[in-house]
Amino acid sequence: MSTQKSVLRSLAGETLPVPPIWIMRQAGRYLPEYKATRAKAGDFLSLCYNPNLAAEVTIQPICRYGFDAAILFADILLLPQALGADLSFVTGEGPRLSTITTADQLAALKPAHGVSDHLSPIYETIKILSKALPDETTLIGFAGAPWTVATYMIAGQGTPDQGPAHALKAENRIVFDGLIELITAGTIVYLSAQIDAGAEVIKLFDSWAGSLQGADFQRYSIEPMQHITAALKAAYPHVPIIAFPRGAGEKYVELHAAIGADCIALDDGVSAEWAAKNVQTGGCVQGNLASSHMVTGGDVLVSETRQIVDAFSDGPHIFNLGHGITPDADPENVQLMIDTVRGG
Ligand code: CP3
Repeated sequence: MSTQKSVLRSLAGETLPVPPIWIMRQAGRYLPEYKATRAKAGDFLSLCYNPNLAAEVTIQPICRYGFDAAILFADILLLPQALGADLSFVTGEGPRLSTITTADQLAALKPAHGVSDHLSPIYETIKILSKALPDETTLIGFAGAPWTVATYMIAGQGTPDQGPAHALKAENRIVFDGLIELITAGTIVYLSAQIDAGAEVIKLFDSWAGSLQGADFQRYSIEPMQHITAALKAAYPHVPIIAFPRGAGEKYVELHAAIGADCIALDDGVSAEWAAKNVQTGGCVQGNLASSHMVTGGDVLVSETRQIVDAFSDGPHIFNLGHGITPDADPENVQLMIDTVRGG
């Protein structure tokens, strides 16, 4: 029965003796089997749009480590592409997109209801995974939160300070708000179709939430995520939602209620002890071991892992990293972390 899955139990608010575990970017370049399948696909985007190979890399870390959740292999930048932006990934440099900074460029994008034509291979990947995953493994679908997706669509690439998005917000609020609204509506269409295909949990990645200050944090991080969550909850009340406003710091407090999410994912900028007192009181939390421990390993990895498990042990918790695992991580350190969480 699906309610027996440990991740779903934690998301429903249960305190489990051993927290379920998965990690962000668990299918990735630190794994030799990922690199082999990616080479077979040709490039990263071809891998994302090949349902059989995308399902294969999604399952690889489940086979190797027995994680409690599998996250769909795709990317937050597929939605901009479905909206009509040009997208490519330059090896070693990251994503490149055509930019949206004018009313004409915004008007040239496709309407939100049209995104699924382009994204249908992703739904196919989810259907394959729903059948192929072990019974105890929860399948997580995802999308970027509107602010984070907008930062890439406005700048045309990743930026250290999201400067171009902040500049458009200051200079042309009509275009900026129009873009946020389009991404929000497209994300609801995309995530609804992911759930229809078999995603059991949805995660929203607001990776650049930390650069929004004051009223902007409320308006452009919380409100769009709240809007998406409300729309999904109206149609799919049983599907739990994890929100990840990375870098929120002290603004992590009371976000379960503000967003309407079942779980708040924490980065490693806040201590587990602080988050247990100030965030976990609102519901399930996920996180938050620094991903650098997957590179350095050793006794420090073990003690930090234990400290996080202990700090969150009085409430619902899903163990994870504070951000994605990096390509230079040692796969054996991932095993050491899992053994520490499960074995004490
Ligand atoms: O977590 C998973 O295993 C699921 C798949 C997943 C990927 N990206 C695969 C990926 C998920 C959930 C994402 C989310 C994502 N993508 C975010 C939000 C989370 C975060 O890390 O903050 C963002 C900002 C992106 C955009 C993106 N995708 C960038 C900036 C890059 C380049 C940087 C990098 O790490 O190379 C990507 C590429 C990407 N997405 C890779 C993977 C496995 C590496 C591509 C490769 O194999 O060359």
